[in-house]
Amino acid sequence: MTEQVLYIILLGPPASGKGTQAAQLREFLELPHVASGDLFRENLKNETELGLQAKEYMDRGELVPDDVTIAMVMDRLSRPDCAGGALLDGFPRTIAQARALDAALAAAGHRVALVPCIQVPDDVLVERVSGRRLCPVCGESYHVRFNPPEEPGICDNDGAELYQREDDQPETVRRRLQVYHEQTSPLIDYYRNRGLLIDIQGDQSIEAVQSDLRSAVSKIGLFRK
Ligand code: AP5
Ligand code: MG
Ligand code: ZN
Repeated sequence: MTEQVLYIILLGPPASGKGTQAAQLREFLELPHVASGDLFRENLKNETELGLQAKEYMDRGELVPDDVTIAMVMDRLSRPDCAGGALLDGFPRTIAQARALDAALAAAGHRVALVPCIQVPDDVLVERVSGRRLCPVCGESYHVRFNPPEEPGICDNDGAELYQREDDQPETVRRRLQVYHEQTSPLIDYYRNRGLLIDIQGDQSIEAVQSDLRSAVSKIGLFRK
């Protein structure tokens, strides 16, 4: 095993499968999964000031302001389990966030290694969101049709009752997609221009997407085993 420090960013629109893929890829890469949306939801569950502040934006499908988001993610990346890097999901989401991440990594002598961008057409995303179900205990993400639990509405891992995310209402989803196209998609060129972007066809089975991600990562020698 090498002592490589790895930062990989999963880019992609809402419901493109970032969380689903990261949950599997983290084991392959032996990296912690750092998802900004999950961090906000965790804060909200614990009723922190940050969580309540973020809720206002999340409920509308808008982005939480950059300063708050950057501070939260940097704090997470400074914890000991991220000493070897991280698999980032949902961050960065604006050019300002990408620049802040680049600067923080450069200050520590590190850089982003790869940015797989999971591409999925908007109409497919809407169908995915409407069928998404989540576990409140372990965070596992299911889909009523595409990735159903063994028993409907019940988590395979721990038997907890699954729930739907509040921002998965159709109107909020439309706004989230619009925000992605306006504010996040410029990151595609940002990372492409740096030679870091890899397009991943996301409109295939979960297994096929995972296999494409693993071969992209393996090709450039980024796996650590
Ligand atoms: P966040 O939690 O990051 O949500 P998102 O980007 O909208 O993405 P999702 O989590 O909805 O989708 P996903 O790509 O993880 O897909 P999943 O694997 O679940 O952000 C939420 C909010 O927090 C934002 O709107 C914003 O307000 C705030 N926020 C977060 N980060 C921020 C930042 N950096 N700056 C500012 N604000 C920020 O899959 C979706 C469904 O599809 C599941 O049901 C799954 O089972 C199914 N599925 C997955 N892959 C496939 C497949 N290949 N085929 C069929 N079904 C599939
Ligand atoms: Mg997610
Ligand atoms: Zn569970």
